[in-house]
Amino acid sequence: MTDTAESIHAALERVIDPEIRKPITELDMVRAVSFADGVATVGIVLTIVGCPAADRIEADVRAAVGAVDGVRELDLSIGVMTPAERTALTERLHGARRGNQFTADSLTRVYAITSGKGGVGKSTVTANLAVALAARGLKVGLVDADVFGFSIPALLGLADEKPTRVGEMILPPIAHDVKVISIGMFVDSSATAVAWRGPMLHRTINQFLTDVYFGDLDVLLLDLPPGTGDVAISIGQLLPHAEVIVVTTPQAAAADVAERSGIVARKTGQSVIGVVENMAGLVQPDGSVLDLFGSGGGQATASRLDVPLLASIPLSVALRTGGDTGRPVVLTHPADPAATAILTLAAALATRPRGLAGRSLGFTVT
Ligand SMILES: Nc1ncnc2c1ncn2[C@@H]1O[C@H](COP(=O)(O)OP(=O)(O)O)[C@@H](O)[C@H]1O
Ligand SMILES: [Mg+2]
Repeated sequence: MTDTAESIHAALERVIDPEIRKPITELDMVRAVSFADGVATVGIVLTIVGCPAADRIEADVRAAVGAVDGVRELDLSIGVMTPAERTALTERLHGARRGNQFTADSLTRVYAITSGKGGVGKSTVTANLAVALAARGLKVGLVDADVFGFSIPALLGLADEKPTRVGEMILPPIAHDVKVISIGMFVDSSATAVAWRGPMLHRTINQFLTDVYFGDLDVLLLDLPPGTGDVAISIGQLLPHAEVIVVTTPQAAAADVAERSGIVARKTGQSVIGVVENMAGLVQPDGSVLDLFGSGGGQATASRLDVPLLASIPLSVALRTGGDTGRPVVLTHPADPAATAILTLAAALATRPRGLAGRSLGFTVT
């Protein structure tokens, strides 16, 4: 290779596939690179026809090669991998071992967010927590395990996203640096009711953990459906090392329902690491606090489960509108009191040691 051809190759090493998040050179997507008389000739192949990332990859390749000294012109050809090439890539990315990517020996910390009742803000908190952890530089995945009541795609502005399939591998859409998978991305939006029995739910969650290419994650969050049903039991079987966070409101009556979801987690062998209280008192313009849903429910639940209260997140209009518009409050209004509480929770979780079974957690909250 000429020096310039080598520089072009080096420039291509900095082009990242936006979905797989690895350099295109590492993904065997770069074929021909040559250079003569100021003209760079580059051939790249995409993983599938009509790859959603194609425009971005093409633009990034043009920018990278165009910036190389001596290149006047770029002759770029874009093709598609053969099925055999794609299978080879899939296997390399996914590892020869087919199966759950998040077994106890993986280094990913797994947090399952649960609640006794619906409507306590579990999904809103989970979505914001995921984004807050990603904003701290962690590699974060989010599995929407609420198959009947999925809401994560809309909360993260992914309502119209479809995952890309590469062979048997599913590439999760990415929102605010979080890799997200939800049944909502597979069902037709005009018929969003999903009525499945336990075994089907179990298979779906298992497929999310198996066929979805998350890559190496620091943290995986799961938004569980409310209550103590089939999904909670499946998670207990599929991810026995998952650590559980219980979300509840300040309402005293909610505490025993919340406690039950924690008890089920323990019965399936998971450890409950703490309680998050949501919809706590709203600070009024005059400084007084409106306890719309009462107070004390978070601490009561935490005490009954004998775990710490990890956070108390106040009622917040900005948090709610951020969910309605798919723009998480932790990014748009980080100074909002609800955002601050979630960012503080993210900081505490980010600095915890990985939850290896049998290891002391040493978790304290101030
Ligand atoms: N702290 C909060 N302040 C104001 N509204 C909230 C708060 N937390 C959640 N909400 C709103 O409450 C509703 C239920 O939240 P959601 O996250 O869907 O609950 P769950 O997942 O527990 O069913 C949503 O409309 C959401 O925007
Ligand atoms: Mg929900």
